[in-house]
Amino acid sequence: MIRVNENYAKLQASYLFSEIAKRVKSYQQANPDKPVIRLGIGDVTEPLPPVCIEAMHRAVDEMSKRETFRGYGPEQGYDFLREAIAKNDFLRRGADVAADEIFVSDGAKCDTANIQELFADKISVAVPDPVYPVYVDTNVMAGRTGKNVGGRYSGLHYLDSTQENGFVPAPPSEPVDLVYLCFPNNPTGATATRDQLAAWVEYARKNRALILFDAAYEAFIRDKSIPHSIYEIEGAREVAIEFRSFSKTAGFTGTRCAYTVVPHSVAAYTRKGDAVPLHPMWNRRHTTKFNGVSYPVQRAAEAVFSRDGKKQTKALTDFYLKNAKIIKKGFAKAGFEVAGGDNSPYVWVNIHGDSWEFFDRLLNEAQVVTTPGAGFGKMGQGFIRISAFNSRENVEKAMARIQKIL
Ligand code: MLT
Repeated sequence: MIRVNENYAKLQASYLFSEIAKRVKSYQQANPDKPVIRLGIGDVTEPLPPVCIEAMHRAVDEMSKRETFRGYGPEQGYDFLREAIAKNDFLRRGADVAADEIFVSDGAKCDTANIQELFADKISVAVPDPVYPVYVDTNVMAGRTGKNVGGRYSGLHYLDSTQENGFVPAPPSEPVDLVYLCFPNNPTGATATRDQLAAWVEYARKNRALILFDAAYEAFIRDKSIPHSIYEIEGAREVAIEFRSFSKTAGFTGTRCAYTVVPHSVAAYTRKGDAVPLHPMWNRRHTTKFNGVSYPVQRAAEAVFSRDGKKQTKALTDFYLKNAKIIKKGFAKAGFEVAGGDNSPYVWVNIHGDSWEFFDRLLNEAQVVTTPGAGFGKMGQGFIRISAFNSRENVEKAMARIQKIL
């Protein structure tokens, strides 16, 4: 008898963004004459930087000739891209990361979801609350939690991110084995200071824990004192894996390219306490289950690090940050407490009410799609997340509509 993975029955009925899409679709079907503006899922709207398009065109032309055609590439990514990443994203910032520690993939979502395969079933897992749902759901699927009771899974350790702690939880007093951190944070837009990250690294070293550091939004950091990478913190190479993406940095949500850094020095432990390096394990997993990102896409990603690429991607993230400023100002003017949006494309609004009701109200009365904070966890109740990823015209229109109904 084929048995089902019964852990799936513990999951909430649908993935947050699928639930939102369902509600928006049914609203649109009932109101076809009322155009909806989407500030919900963080999906980019602006075209790819010209340097990326040019690089992709050149690569496609190479694929048309026998002499330059390429079949399977290295699963871990082409050296030209891994070297450009190591040099520009890490060495330039004084973070010690080698090209062969970088695994190019098709998304940080997939990587943050898949990485937990490397760890034992019975480990304690800490997640921030509110949280990007993928970290939680994949551990539920893997059987590391009990049932969901009142919006929280038993067996998971929740790190409350609140207005009081600036949405940056401190390490817990008890030991945990695996910790998910995301800065700039999705959904709150909060950033962690060097000292706050150093406290986490120290905690992980002391407890032989591992930090999974999601830095998918680092390109939005403008405050020079804020670290972009966990490897800017001394000692992190032994206790942290970092996830990055070209999705929000360079508009690749539909193009697909990301990467994960697994330092040679990062380890997990056997039952007996022997250290096992994770780099060969992730390499084994990656090469077994993944066949690499397409050559034209990797060439487009490489172009991000050219002189023009840096200018163009900076202009792109500046553009979305200006949208975030407009959103933040709009809600503040309407009397709401707002966080995020300065070094992040997400604005986190305290609505002092029910998140889903507020979401429905904005959809029905202003035709603006947002993301209810409650969808990110218990501590997200009472908040909504507004994404700055849209055209200027739509952001201005959405804010005018929202201000009218509020
Ligand atoms: C979000 O809106 O939280 C993100 O777009 C989700 C993702 O990157 O997968």
